[in-house]
Amino acid sequence: MVIKMNKKLILIVTLISLFPFIVSGKSESKLPHLRQQGTASQLIVDNKPFLILGGELGNSSASSLSYMKNVWPILLKLNLNTVLIPVYWELIEPVEGEFDFSIVDNLIYHTRKNNLRIIFLWFGSWKNSMSCYVPEWIKTNRERFPRARDDKGNALEILTAFNDNNLNADLKALQQLMKHIATIDKNHSTVIMVQVENEIGMIPVARDYCNQANIAFRKDVPMKLIDYLKENKDNLMPELHDLWAASDYKKEGTWEEIFGKSKSTDELFMAWHYAIFVEELAKAGKKEHDIPMFVNAALIRKGYEPGQYPSAGPLPHLMDVWRAGAPSVDFLSPDIYFPDIEEWCHKYDQKGNPFFIPEARREEETGMKAFYVFGNHNAMGFSPFSIESTDNPEEDPIGKSYNIISQLEHLILENQGRGKMAGILLDHNKKQEEIVLGGYKFIIKHDFTLGWSPEAKNDTWPLSGVLIINTAPGEFYVAGSGIVINFETIKDDNSKAGIARIDEGEFRDGQWVPGRRMNGDQSHQGRHLRIPEKVYGIQKVKLYTYQ
Ligand code: DGJ
Repeated sequence: MVIKMNKKLILIVTLISLFPFIVSGKSESKLPHLRQQGTASQLIVDNKPFLILGGELGNSSASSLSYMKNVWPILLKLNLNTVLIPVYWELIEPVEGEFDFSIVDNLIYHTRKNNLRIIFLWFGSWKNSMSCYVPEWIKTNRERFPRARDDKGNALEILTAFNDNNLNADLKALQQLMKHIATIDKNHSTVIMVQVENEIGMIPVARDYCNQANIAFRKDVPMKLIDYLKENKDNLMPELHDLWAASDYKKEGTWEEIFGKSKSTDELFMAWHYAIFVEELAKAGKKEHDIPMFVNAALIRKGYEPGQYPSAGPLPHLMDVWRAGAPSVDFLSPDIYFPDIEEWCHKYDQKGNPFFIPEARREEETGMKAFYVFGNHNAMGFSPFSIESTDNPEEDPIGKSYNIISQLEHLILENQGRGKMAGILLDHNKKQEEIVLGGYKFIIKHDFTLGWSPEAKNDTWPLSGVLIINTAPGEFYVAGSGIVINFETIKDDNSKAGIARIDEGEFRDGQWVPGRRMNGDQSHQGRHLRIPEKVYGIQKVKLYTYQ
């Protein structure tokens, strides 16, 4: 009896002590979702804005859990808070209708244990255009799961988007995956977003020429797209607008009647069909577990034409087609491997497209790009590819940049979309840039313009990056590496900008902890603010004006 009483008591005490946890913020948290702040789209996780300091794993790493054992510590040393991990269709559904989520469970378990978040990449029907990750029972059954064909009728290693068996098989698998994630993760939000497919694109021709595709190509352009064109006529991407204008904005007819006969029309048609395929997947997946979903694109090499690059993917010139065809997809994102990162950022950071870079080339200078995308584009996140490929994570430039950015995270999130931040990249081709922020003009130069470094004589300079946040009148945090800044007023009254003080320092638990006062040699006796090349730092500057 006494023992029974004790057991009851223990149960009651346990329930009371667990009560706050059961009803805590965790279980009350809404699922991850997007929210607008000023001009920025923010990702909300556990009811708070979240900045993705991410990295994408190399393609094969997550297929082996023992391989992953060595990867987790590297991710932590790089100061990541999020890891982008593929889910391979062939591994979760090796036999049709029989799902094995052990690999997914293990990845979620370790992600949680390491206090990270996951963005899953659904390697379903398409991975870099190809269908290399579809299960063998699909690959080997061409009758049931037909392929796309080129203009000569040759079968490609690409599933056609024009077949219901193909769509339904992919849809069922993604649906099961999302259902499983909901079961184990809805009170944790370890999985914060899902990328649907990977770098969809048609190659080496701009469109599919299988029978079903040819039939669709001869049909009228769907009214859903026509309605979108009509509603957004004055705001379409210029390439699409021009194609449509050539037919004097025809509102009925086949693809070629409305947009003309060209490879661009072939690509447009294909983009629509990829988009409506993906829409079905995203809709079905979100029904099971409603978290943000996005698509990513392989970008276009300069001078390439449709068919020469992976065509019809979520590329900037096709943004309208993807939006009209796949409204359940929250945003389109670029995989930036080309050096002209600024140009591509501007192309994706427009027309309200929430901005996230799921893949960026991993190189010495990638860390600098992180300062730029967070400072200049209100990015939700950044993620170099093959993040685990480093022999020395402690000294890795990405880890150093993420260390600085994670200290500033609260300020970045608070100021996103409010016109209080700037981000700049500089090198030998662009040695200087001027911006206006918080009522002052910033003349930002590459550190080598001072000529103090012997390397300044070289023809190429390492990329420098800076992120600036205006936190109060005349007060700015300047973070980055390899820059020197002079300040001017923007007033028309002969007044000048003076440096009241510069402190280097760091944020600890969100509190600014100043280090050295930099008003002497380090600021050239109050003439400039400088973070030398190879130094990763934060400096707080207070400006004033005088006449
Ligand atoms: C872009 C793809 O999305 C990745 O999966 C990977 O294949 C990289 N390219 C390789 O550079």
